[in-house]
Amino acid sequence: MTKQRALLIIKPDGVQRGLIGKILSRFERVGLKIIGLKFIWANEKQIKDHYPSTEAWFKKVGERTLTNYAKKGLDAKKIFKTDDAVSIGKTVKQWLVDYMQQSPVFLVVVESFDVIEIVRKLSGNTIPVLAAPGTIRGDFSHDTIDLANEQSRPLRNIIHASDSVEDGEKEIKVWFKEDELFEYPRCDEKFMFGRQ
Ligand code: CMP
Repeated sequence: MTKQRALLIIKPDGVQRGLIGKILSRFERVGLKIIGLKFIWANEKQIKDHYPSTEAWFKKVGERTLTNYAKKGLDAKKIFKTDDAVSIGKTVKQWLVDYMQQSPVFLVVVESFDVIEIVRKLSGNTIPVLAAPGTIRGDFSHDTIDLANEQSRPLRNIIHASDSVEDGEKEIKVWFKEDELFEYPRCDEKFMFGRQ
C-alpha cells in the first residue's frame, strides 16, 4: 500500500478569523504528514486553474445547489435567474474567483494512507449546517447557501480539501513545484503503521 497526497486550502474566512493554527493542528494530531506549506495571495489564474472548468464540475456544483434549494423550499431561479445546473456552477466559480482573492490563503499538502478519506472526514460536509460537530466546518462555520447566494458570494466553509487522489494531484500542481514538497520521517509513523 502506498501513501497518497491531498491539498488543503484554508480559505479567506479561515485566515481572516485567525483559525490557521487551530485547523492545522487537527491534521497534524491525527498523524498526517505535512509535506508542503505556503501562505500566498492567490491570483485569478491560480484560482481558475484550481477549480475545474469542466462541464462535469459545473454540473456537480449546480446540481448540489439545486438539491439544497429544493430541500429548503427556495427558488434557485430567483437568485441565479436560471435553473440550469451548469450555468449555476459557472456563477459559483466566478464568485469563488473573487472570494479567494479577498485575503491570503494558506495552502497545505498532506501525505498518508487513505489521505482523501481522512481529510474529508476532518473537514466535514461542504454545507456547514450539515457538517457534524467535531469536524472543522461543523465546529467553526455557520454559513448557509441561501444567505451566501443572496449576497452573490460562495459559502464561507473555512477549508477546501481534495475530493479524490486524481483531483488532489492536479490541484497540488497548480500551487506547488515538486521541489517545494518534502520527504522526511515523522517520529510516530513506525508506531502508527508499523512502517514508514
Ligand atoms: P469547496 O470545497 O472549495 O468546493 C467548491 C466550493 O464552492 C465549495 O467549497 C463552496 O465554498 C462553494 N459552493 C458550492 N456551491 C455553492 C453555492 N450554491 N453557493 C455558494 N457557494 C457554493
